[in-house]
Amino acid sequence: MRKRIVFIIGLTLANHIFLFAGDISIKVTKKYLNIPVSQQDKRALMRFETGGVQEREFQIRLASGIPDYWVFCDLASFKGKTIKISYEGNSEGLSKIYQDDVIAGKDSLYKERNRPQFHFTSRRGWNNDPNGLIFYEGEYHLFYQHNPYEREWENMHWGHAVSKDLIRWEELPEALYPDKLGTMFSGSAVIDYNNTAGFNKGNIPAMIAIYTADSPDKQVQCIAYSLDKGRTWEKYARNPVIDSKAKWNSKDTRDPKVFWYKPGNHWVLVLNERDGHSIYTSDNLKEWHFESHITGFWECPELFELSVDGDKNDTRWVMYGASGTYMIGRFDGKTFTPESGKYNYTAGSIYAAQTYTNIPDTDGRRIQIGWGRIQQPGMPFNGMMLLPTELTLRNTKEGIRLFNVPVREVEMLHGTSVQWKSLAPEKANELLKQFCSDDCLRIRTTFKLSHATDAGLNLSGQSLVNYDMNFNQVNGVFYSPDDRTSMEITADIFIDKTSVEVFIDGGAYSYSMERKPRPGNKEGFHFWGNNIEVNSLEVYQMNSIWK
Ligand code: FRU
Repeated sequence: MRKRIVFIIGLTLANHIFLFAGDISIKVTKKYLNIPVSQQDKRALMRFETGGVQEREFQIRLASGIPDYWVFCDLASFKGKTIKISYEGNSEGLSKIYQDDVIAGKDSLYKERNRPQFHFTSRRGWNNDPNGLIFYEGEYHLFYQHNPYEREWENMHWGHAVSKDLIRWEELPEALYPDKLGTMFSGSAVIDYNNTAGFNKGNIPAMIAIYTADSPDKQVQCIAYSLDKGRTWEKYARNPVIDSKAKWNSKDTRDPKVFWYKPGNHWVLVLNERDGHSIYTSDNLKEWHFESHITGFWECPELFELSVDGDKNDTRWVMYGASGTYMIGRFDGKTFTPESGKYNYTAGSIYAAQTYTNIPDTDGRRIQIGWGRIQQPGMPFNGMMLLPTELTLRNTKEGIRLFNVPVREVEMLHGTSVQWKSLAPEKANELLKQFCSDDCLRIRTTFKLSHATDAGLNLSGQSLVNYDMNFNQVNGVFYSPDDRTSMEITADIFIDKTSVEVFIDGGAYSYSMERKPRPGNKEGFHFWGNNIEVNSLEVYQMNSIWK
């Protein structure tokens, strides 16, 4: 009997050792390491070591059985070396890890069932906030909060993609990896034309990223620089540059937004600290001085100047946080003084939107990209970026307000199009039937209510536009047109595989949501509302950005 117990304990231990923890070594000869993932397996720590030195460490759900999907790791920096990969969890999957010159699943890349076709998504893993939005030497850079190893949030890196036109993106290797100070949380980027930080090389100005390093204990602000257009990064040896946990008695100090303040010849950093946004200034991006604080904002600060109705002599500053609710005011380089209450210009899935810096004066636009909190069911990636939009300030009857419309570059995706005028809703519904099986469309329409208190447009039972003139709401959010007696509403609707974005009345208000047809609903497009008139209806088939 005793023997049997000892035997069983021995077997369990052996199993334990076999199932839990293990390592393999690989001599790196190829570009990528392909790793199987299963959402059924628990997260555990995976470590890469070369020559006894720890190189990387991250949480991953290494698939012990059949993988749900594969993720990959760029091996460029390990070429020719032997890496020891150890895993603290169920290590059965270690033997399935392999190196290759292509990523697992390459053949179906960008053609997956639920892959957005005209919005940026990462090849693999989770994305949230856009970071470091900067235009430099003909490229729009899109860095972003990225977990390369799973379709859920964890292991924050800065992912990286570039575009020449804001529409077609090329994903590059990760820009910033977690380090001793923590994982890489949100931040921004600048070009240091005057070499204030001393990182420039000859006539190459450094691109400098200012980001938060997040650890269980605190969040500190750090800088890193790149001399090759954001492809490779060197972290500043004396990071962090701001550590303000003690001052605020709070762990919430993050998401630095930095820009050059020309009138004062200095850098400005807006940081979310505990209960609002703080302003810091610096001459060199390394030493920062606290200047002021304004309460009532949460995460991901933005602060920028815009002309009102395009008049360069009449400008205001706009401040917002991650939710996008904004204040309009004045800024003297050290203090933001609000002149308005808080307003919203957008709602729905958008979060943590940021705007581009270093846009050439000849362009002069304030271009924004927001994170679309959109699920991508069953995909090896999750989340997405919403369409880039142009922000403007305009005088309205209520005062100055922020407007938001898709950048004109989206038009380059237009395929076949049709336009109609003055339609009865039944006729419009009939004409729209031909588009019901299209995955990617832009629909621009103006419709007029006269007998109806509410009216709208559905797609397969999902409400794309629901305008309630009685309660003054568009899709459940208060909305009053600038012409208060207007009976008309205009909607510019972008329908992609898994998302819908709608811009109302020339960008006075916008919203985004998951595309969710009601199960079994065969209705297709459907204008509804008593006796409404569809004044105009334009439909564009949208081409894929991945071709
Ligand atoms: C906003 C946010 C930021 C933070 C990042 C972490 O979505 O919570 O405040 O830096 O995401 O991924």
